[in-house]
Amino acid sequence: MKRRVGILTGGGDAPGLNAVIRAFTRRAVFQLGWEVVGIEDSFDGLLSSPRRLHVLGREQVKDILNQGGTILGTTNRGDPFSYPVGDERVDVAAQVAQAVREERLEGLVVIGGDGTQRIGLNLMERVGVPVIGVPKTIDNDLAGTDRTFGFQSAVDVATEAIDRLSTTAEAHRRVMVLEVMGRDAGHIALHAGISGGADIILIPEVPYDPVRVAARIERRHQTGRLYTIIVVAEGALPKESPERSELLDSPKERLKAAGGAAAVLMAQLQGRVQAEMRSMVLGHLQRGGSPVPSDRLLAQRFGVHAATLVDRGEWGQLVCLQGGSIVSVPLADAAHTRFVDVDGEMLRLARELDVEIGA
Ligand code: F6P
Repeated sequence: MKRRVGILTGGGDAPGLNAVIRAFTRRAVFQLGWEVVGIEDSFDGLLSSPRRLHVLGREQVKDILNQGGTILGTTNRGDPFSYPVGDERVDVAAQVAQAVREERLEGLVVIGGDGTQRIGLNLMERVGVPVIGVPKTIDNDLAGTDRTFGFQSAVDVATEAIDRLSTTAEAHRRVMVLEVMGRDAGHIALHAGISGGADIILIPEVPYDPVRVAARIERRHQTGRLYTIIVVAEGALPKESPERSELLDSPKERLKAAGGAAAVLMAQLQGRVQAEMRSMVLGHLQRGGSPVPSDRLLAQRFGVHAATLVDRGEWGQLVCLQGGSIVSVPLADAAHTRFVDVDGEMLRLARELDVEIGA
């Protein structure tokens, strides 16, 4: 009997998901002769009745290498340990395990970010579903791997946005605030901000002082630099302000309610800055479209290595990039968030380039 393995994508999408699915399928089906079963909409495809599963072959994975999104669909609301049923949350993890057994799947290849990898780890430890994780997120904030695919594509979009905003900001002598994704970690803001030559970069790991930010803008204008580009990550918060103390008990929800990080920053700068200000939220543009070549390459390296781990029976591992090589680490060590290192090279680089980081 052919070996059968399930594959799914979970959480927010990221450019390169299809490249992983294609790479895994090419290695597993074309070369190793297994059956690969694509599961729709994360774990939902195993829980719905009838189950939504598709055997993947040449036809299904052709022409998808450069496509954004995911042919399998995804959701960030389907945690089987806290599954939404009406107004309730129920634990349906045992049903996932039962479906895996009934479908004769040896295990699951789970392509997702920290939330999805935590679910994978719990499925393995609590209900015995063999899992291999493949790290995905535009935010690049998954522990265990130096890089997730999708990140570079998002940084490209954000950098182009900074380039474009810079010319209009200069023409009008304005302060432009660009909010980029990064709910928990500021990797996109930092990488795109430095690449785009932003004057001020604000990230969740470094709560900012609005007085200091305003002073930098004023100083720039006094010394003849008549426009300013600020990149703010969506999770960046001001420190020691009434807004921050309000924001503290549930930062994400409160920030959203206050209109988001850019809106909060604009409010903080109002009255402190003379120049005209405008803001924009880049949002899901960062997640859409084709993966850049480096993400396509990384995604395919990850996909093929996932097949290697299945072949060796090394379940419970997260495929990862470390020091330029594709290796793997135990899921247990990796299923958490990797923040920007506040003493690390990137933040130091920003400081040494005289970029204001708000603290
Ligand atoms: O993929 C992670 C992320 O990009 C976060 O930075 C952002 O907060 C989130 O996705 C938004 O996702 P959605 O709008 O799909 O819930």
